[in-house]
Amino acid sequence: MQVALREIGNCIIRRCDLSDLISTMEINLKTLPEHYSDYFYESLLAELPEAFLVAEVDGKLVGYIMCKIEYGFSNFKKLGFVKKGHVVSVAVLPEHRRKGIGEGLVQESIAGVKMKKCDELYLEVRCSNTEAVKLYEKLGFVIKQRLKAYYRDGEDAYLMAVEFAY
Ligand code: ACO
Ligand code: ZN
Repeated sequence: MQVALREIGNCIIRRCDLSDLISTMEINLKTLPEHYSDYFYESLLAELPEAFLVAEVDGKLVGYIMCKIEYGFSNFKKLGFVKKGHVVSVAVLPEHRRKGIGEGLVQESIAGVKMKKCDELYLEVRCSNTEAVKLYEKLGFVIKQRLKAYYRDGEDAYLMAVEFAY
């Protein structure tokens, strides 16, 4: 049982438990074309539970966010080598959108990667995904690159990133 990190109306945001992974995978299947193996979900949860979060309404999961940590070149500092959080996937079920749940998930995962002292947080998003791009921009992410044919169907991605000050 995990404590609530944040409440948004009747929705609570909390860390994911192992027993939440099936529902998380179901939300992913319903909402996004990019899917992952159950082993991948388990390893992200084991690696970075601080930023693998779920949104729950009336005992049912309605959204999730999962992240990992990487070491590599900065998206901000020329030639800088940094510790980066990477938002692998975030989604909210259609009937629960536009209530601040997506924003709450991303904000709490930012807090989670900051606990791990990451210098930056980045992600890829389809260039056509205006809602998601707007959400990330609202939270301080900026478009750093356009990645040509990033997705299997050939669509380009924006690489978006935010830098943290401690
Ligand atoms: N139109 C315009 N702006 C929007 C919209 C929309 N339909 N939806 C969200 N936004 C922006 C707005 O700036 C909004 O702030 P505002 O309400 O003050 O205007 C802000 O995002 C926050 O909105 P929330 O209500 O918190 O977002 P929501 O809970 O609806 O979740 C999400 C947004 C996660 C993108 C949702 O639309 C979704 O699940 N989409 C399908 C899955 C997806 O595309 N995930 C992201 C893929 S990229 C990745 O995973 C790294
Ligand atoms: Zn990615």
